[in-house]
Amino acid sequence: MVKSPIVRFGNSSLRHPCVEVQFPNPDLKQIVMSMFLIMYKDGGVGLAANQVGLTERVAVIDTVGAEKDDDKLVLINPVIIESEGEETMIEGCLSLPDFSHEVKRAIKIKVKNFDYDGKEVIVEASGFLARAIQHEIDHLNGKLFVDRLSNVDKMMIDPKLKKLARLYKKESKGIPV
Ligand code: CO
Repeated sequence: MVKSPIVRFGNSSLRHPCVEVQFPNPDLKQIVMSMFLIMYKDGGVGLAANQVGLTERVAVIDTVGAEKDDDKLVLINPVIIESEGEETMIEGCLSLPDFSHEVKRAIKIKVKNFDYDGKEVIVEASGFLARAIQHEIDHLNGKLFVDRLSNVDKMMIDPKLKKLARLYKKESKGIPV
């Protein structure tokens, strides 16, 4: 089996906030394309740069999974400028396979984003897409969805997370588990 290039929970690069993309950036489209490929291959709906060892504020999202251009959302230097409401839903992450938990997030958001040329664009989203965008922006800030749980929930899941981190570490060294 080919090893996934996605960095798993426990690896410190997930904790490093990404840096702003500078324009012009001739590599950007290529980076985005390879990120989509990795995301689709691993069956995710979103992927942030630091999950694949990159350091710039770029994330890709496709909550439909149909791999059509219209459904693809590319986040470049995204910043949430407005958020509204609150709802709790089950969430998972490609960096934490085989784990999911309820997370509270805003229902509607407005995001300042940029296109490949560095032109500002506003993205408005609600529901699951808004959730995915918030999850990816968290990644770019070095934050994971498990950080958003209550202290009690964090305590409850701690043994499981430690176990998973050990397992991922073994996997990344190529030792069969
Ligand atoms: Co994630």
